[in-house]
Amino acid sequence: MILVTGGAGYIGSHTCVELLNAGHEIVVLDNFANSSRTSLERVRQICRKPFAVVEGDIRDQAVLEKTLKDFGCTAVIHFAGLKAVLDSVKSPLDYYDNNIIGTHRLLRAMRTRGVKRIIFSSSATVYGDPKFLPYTEDHPLNPVNPYGRTKLVVEEMLRDLVASDSTWSVGILRYFNPIGAHESGLIGEDPKGVPNNLLPFVAQVAVGRRDRLNVWGSDYDTPDGTGVRDYIHVVDLAQGHVAALKTIDQAGCFAVNLGTGRGNSVLEVVKAFEQASGKSIPYELRPRRSGDVASCYAATDRAAKYLGGWRAARDIETMCRDHWRWQSQNPKGYDG
Ligand code: NAD
Ligand code: UD1
Repeated sequence: MILVTGGAGYIGSHTCVELLNAGHEIVVLDNFANSSRTSLERVRQICRKPFAVVEGDIRDQAVLEKTLKDFGCTAVIHFAGLKAVLDSVKSPLDYYDNNIIGTHRLLRAMRTRGVKRIIFSSSATVYGDPKFLPYTEDHPLNPVNPYGRTKLVVEEMLRDLVASDSTWSVGILRYFNPIGAHESGLIGEDPKGVPNNLLPFVAQVAVGRRDRLNVWGSDYDTPDGTGVRDYIHVVDLAQGHVAALKTIDQAGCFAVNLGTGRGNSVLEVVKAFEQASGKSIPYELRPRRSGDVASCYAATDRAAKYLGGWRAARDIETMCRDHWRWQSQNPKGYDG
């Protein structure tokens, strides 16, 4: 039985589908701070398999201990946390509380219950400004905002834990830019308010919820001057977690990138989305967004080695097509 914290969220819900399809039993714990219960109903609809949901907070150690015990959990996949960079600058204490204290309570609850296998959602943001590209896992770690620092502190906490007790198994997965949706169009990313990230914004322009895209920066040292990122299909990412569960016991503690190793510029993404949706995406070239880098993409060899040959398979066209299917079938998200 796998405990999935934050399983109702964007990446968590897609991972629940892949876990259930792979034959795992799961229990989801979520406080629904940034998600809807509907996503889990849709997971049931896709997989036609039952699973339990506990409404609870990872900062509540008693709830965690009870859940681990009642359901006989043997491993945890830990998605729960806050993830908006700008918010983290405005409200750092909320981020330290949710992401660091929350994970600390989770690890204490796991220790109490003797559950010592965990997969943690980290982020490429832990690398900070690139000293070289692609980012290998040995790239210096120097996050430039509070959100990124919470991810780094948790990574260090996990490494210290394994150093103190080698019976723990820890997989740290550093995600690049997850986009897309399950091919059914039933689950997808449903951001609250104005989206900060590129794909949700583009999709909302395509569906008519927003007039035009602001392209943040067109004078970067990239082929067309706009920012380049390593976009990865959320289903590939989810399957990376299933692969990590298989290998986690052999490894002690490992950290790997989950990306495709390829970069696409903002304008390439806009074009791919226009083709996928048949809609035009009006845009305006605007000044750079503070904190952005020109290019960011992953070295992928270590992930393939640690995750039994796993590699991201879906291309940018598939990512845009699946993202559009979700957005067009659910123009206002889950509860619109
Ligand atoms: P999300 O916000 O859609 O999902 C997070 C889930 O955790 C939500 O369902 C939310 O309600 C829940 N949650 C938050 N705080 C909680 C708490 N204290 N107790 C219980 N539940 C809580 O985000 P996502 O995009 O699915 O991201 C999942 C994880 O991956 C996060 O840890 C995020 O930092 C990390 N990550 C995401 C991205 C990305 O681009 N989406 C990139 C790198 C890393
Ligand atoms: C952002 C976060 C990063 C997080 C990642 C998750 C910042 C500074 N970084 O990264 O910590 O891990 O999301 O996916 O917020 N863009 C536009 N117009 C828009 C939105 C984005 O032009 O309306 C451009 C950006 O300038 C960038 C690219 O699109 O070049 C991707 O942006 P975004 O989706 O926000 O991801 P990141 O900046 O990579």
